[in-house]
Amino acid sequence: MAAPVRHTYSPAHPPVLISRDAIAARVVELGAQIDRDLAGESVLLVGVLKGAAIFLSDLARAISIQCTFDFVAVSSYGKGTRSSGAVKLIKDLDHPIEGRNIILVEDILDTGLTLSFLKRMLMQHRPRSLRVAALLDKPDRRLEPIQAEYVGFSIPNHFVIGYGMDYAERFRNLPDICIFPPDAAD
Ligand code: IMP
Repeated sequence: MAAPVRHTYSPAHPPVLISRDAIAARVVELGAQIDRDLAGESVLLVGVLKGAAIFLSDLARAISIQCTFDFVAVSSYGKGTRSSGAVKLIKDLDHPIEGRNIILVEDILDTGLTLSFLKRMLMQHRPRSLRVAALLDKPDRRLEPIQAEYVGFSIPNHFVIGYGMDYAERFRNLPDICIFPPDAAD
């Protein structure tokens, strides 16, 4: 019997860009770096939904200092692989952040529009300090001059899925970071 033609992306054999083991090892290093930088203090991790949820949950467990969470949500890529360029706050913070050490936790720093918008917004609430942790950085795509204090991996200009990152809301549950579509890895 002939093999069925694959019309949809199959997560069975995705082209892995960064393996789950490499992610886990790097997240432990980032946690240790945060512990050193904020030794003796507490930190509020502010995750950007939904892409950063998995990164935040692993990063939080790699941090030993006192740590709490909050989440914000912004409009982003919608159903495609391109940003509209416009950033809109969909979900605000649940608690005040004045005087707190904040780490804004994001899945990808791409054009920088989202994090620039969020940094400006959070600074208005007068935190004690504000840092950015981005699991991935695509420096070639930057439109805003922003850098993260903590970067997991700097990657070339691929669209990626997995470990929280989606294409049209799918594939967030892949344990590895994979290139999408599969033939973009060829
Ligand atoms: P920026 O505003 O262009 O920096 O985009 C940040 C957001 O775009 C990220 O939080 C992701 O939600 C989304 N994004 C950028 N690149 C990718 C990608 O390769 N895969 C999935 N989402 C992406």
